[in-house]
Amino acid sequence: MRLELRGITKRFGSFTANDQISITVEPGQIHCLLGENGAGKSTLMNVLFGLLHPDEGEIIIDGEPVKFEDSGEAVRRGIGMVHQHFMLVPVFTVTENVVLGFEPTKSINRVDYKKATDDIRRVSKEFNLDVDPDAIVENLPVGLQQRVEILKSLSHDAELLILDEPTAVLTPQEIDALMDIMRSLAAAGKSILFITHKLKEVKAVADVITVIRQGRVVGTAQPTDSEGELASLMVGRDVNLTVEKSTFTPGEEVFEIRDLVVRDDRGLIAVNGVSLDVRAGEILALAGVQGNGQTELVEAIAGMRHVESGTITLKGRNITNASPRRVLDAGLGHIPEDRHRDGLVLSMSVADNLVLNTPRRAPFAKHGSRNLAAVKENAERLVQEFDIRTTSIYEDASSLSGGNQQKVIVARELSRPLDFLMASQPTRGLDVGSIEYVHKQIVDHRNKGNASLIVSSELDEVLALGDRIAVMYAGKISGIVDPSTSREAIGLLMTGTTSESEHV
Ligand SMILES: Nc1ncnc2c1ncn2[C@@H]1O[C@H](COP(=O)(O)OP(=O)(O)O)[C@@H](O)[C@H]1O
Ligand SMILES: [Mg+2]
Repeated sequence: MRLELRGITKRFGSFTANDQISITVEPGQIHCLLGENGAGKSTLMNVLFGLLHPDEGEIIIDGEPVKFEDSGEAVRRGIGMVHQHFMLVPVFTVTENVVLGFEPTKSINRVDYKKATDDIRRVSKEFNLDVDPDAIVENLPVGLQQRVEILKSLSHDAELLILDEPTAVLTPQEIDALMDIMRSLAAAGKSILFITHKLKEVKAVADVITVIRQGRVVGTAQPTDSEGELASLMVGRDVNLTVEKSTFTPGEEVFEIRDLVVRDDRGLIAVNGVSLDVRAGEILALAGVQGNGQTELVEAIAGMRHVESGTITLKGRNITNASPRRVLDAGLGHIPEDRHRDGLVLSMSVADNLVLNTPRRAPFAKHGSRNLAAVKENAERLVQEFDIRTTSIYEDASSLSGGNQQKVIVARELSRPLDFLMASQPTRGLDVGSIEYVHKQIVDHRNKGNASLIVSSELDEVLALGDRIAVMYAGKISGIVDPSTSREAIGLLMTGTTSESEHV
């Protein structure tokens, strides 16, 4: 399929999410749409897939202008979309999911599952998808569930496939496999629109790169361009992609957990006997695909989730099952995974959010009444020091961009006396510029001799920050390795393969 988007504009109220975007995708081409979070990529894809209606512009397929009322029409014109969040029914088989919504009409009272199954086998074989049509979807690893989505599109004769940030949930091996699948689809003449903000992936698989910033096309790039060039085009200024770290000289042990067992919200064991320790001047990075118990582990450490057994010790003090307040008082700084739920009070001002953990303490309060001058002075200093972009310190936190909200949390946590910093997905959803900034703050904190635990599902982040890397899989630590370990070896640990792990 040859697809042309011509001058697409999409507004939400007075905000222009897509501004005169024009892109051409040739048959058999892997066209990467590269842009930071909030650049307008998903909006554009939703317009193309008939989920949103453009305010201006045209969609032209093989020379013919089209208008989609809904996604059903887009599917009938040969467009398939694999969403960031899968739209599969977990308890159904692969075949049932693929057939779902496309069953023959009522006049035929039975779906021909035999034929559907055969079709799936054929398509699966043709593109090396390796999907068993009879498998129950919920039993499949995430990477395979994603292939079921791809298969579903293909079995409805998609000629152009939209993959919107498809690698966010995958292990390095699954990412490589997906890239191979994309290549074989393109070789068979399918067009692919691959959306991402990850530079390595773009370079690995793209034929053509279109960079979008703030709703506009700011340029095209080649996969041979350096990561630095791509990043500066994406951000609009030069970006330092490597984190400067001084040599690692670990001091005494600051934090220790032993044989920790924690249950998830459903009462199932999520953390299954984890032991870790972190020393002064060290960043221990905890890697792993999301959903392997990291969230529960972090919540247990922060006093937000009950510990079933095992111990947590901070600076020699047992803080197992202590309240969040006591854990903070014991010297923990916490940058939480869900900054809206746990990190900020969105309806409060930036100034108040910057003293959130210490509002009733000196110097911010005296004899039970608030010292507004101290709150103001603190906010002005931190906004300056941490480059928080806000029109006023009295602005609600909700009005800040995601990157600046995260800077508020980082500023607050790093500006008080800390023995131990725990940061969970510290740069998720942030633009490259803010990532650079947050990483620098975390490393500066470590260079001053502090201990940190950084939990991240981004392997790049883990490799950039960690002095040692622990990998979590299915509630257990599958290995602890040196940061010089190959991505492949860490990827294997992320899938629970422990044979290659070397303990440091
Ligand atoms: N339905 C909507 N209503 C209002 N604003 C929206 C809506 N969808 C997206 N936006 C805004 O449009 C911008 C682009 O979002 P999006 O297309 O999701 O970006 P990307 O996929 O590149 O991260 C963001 O600022 C987002 O907040
Ligand atoms: Mg998006």
